[in-house]
Amino acid sequence: MEPLTVALPKGRLLAPAADLFQRLGWPCELGNGTRQLQITETRESDGASDGISHELRFLLVKPGDVPVYVEYGAADLGIAGQDTLWESGRDVYQPLELGFGRCRLVLAGTPAQRDRDFRLAAGLRVATKDPRQTRAYFQRNGLSVEVIPLSGSIELAPLVGLADLVVDVVETGRTLRENGLVELEEIATCQAVLIVNRVSHRLRLDEVRGLLARLNAELAGNAKT
Ligand code: PRP
Repeated sequence: MEPLTVALPKGRLLAPAADLFQRLGWPCELGNGTRQLQITETRESDGASDGISHELRFLLVKPGDVPVYVEYGAADLGIAGQDTLWESGRDVYQPLELGFGRCRLVLAGTPAQRDRDFRLAAGLRVATKDPRQTRAYFQRNGLSVEVIPLSGSIELAPLVGLADLVVDVVETGRTLRENGLVELEEIATCQAVLIVNRVSHRLRLDEVRGLLARLNAELAGNAKT
């Protein structure tokens, strides 16, 4: 049978995701100086018969594409940030929070916006990489705004008059700070999660369960140290 395929996200989540699989015995060498986008790797056997295949195929894809690969079954499993997953709206099984990639989705603006109470302003424009969550947030709060979807450098938008506010993920807070912006409200907290294709979860249950059990044990062991 084909090895299970795991879609890994390029960018910030790649190193901790690769580290997790390395701790389970796979070299996980994608993104490590190579331009290869897929690689099949074999894990050293430790004699345990837990249903996990010793082979896994890893794919390296853009973070926002991980849920797409997994929903369509091009990958059986993937690692994605919850913010990316919510934004994708893709229908995948999410059995495991991974405890890394913690960040917060926040509404931010200039200090003047904070002092003025942005809720009172009309015709606000909000720049974001997360338009679905941004629209949902403002709808929940009964505010009508124009959402401007961008694909990066969100914090620039208020500085050049493109938008009044931004909705973006904050990890250390450094990007907001260095661009003179302040947090106005927290919208959600996020972390990396393992996602599984729903058909793979049914048809390859033993393998998926075996891998999940290993990942769980590794994460639990790591949490204790
Ligand atoms: C993300 C996010 C913020 C920044 C937050 O951008 O959109 O800009 O990281 O991180 P911090 O709180 O640690 O400063 P990313 O680095 O992914 O680049 P991008 O703007 O090109 O999307």
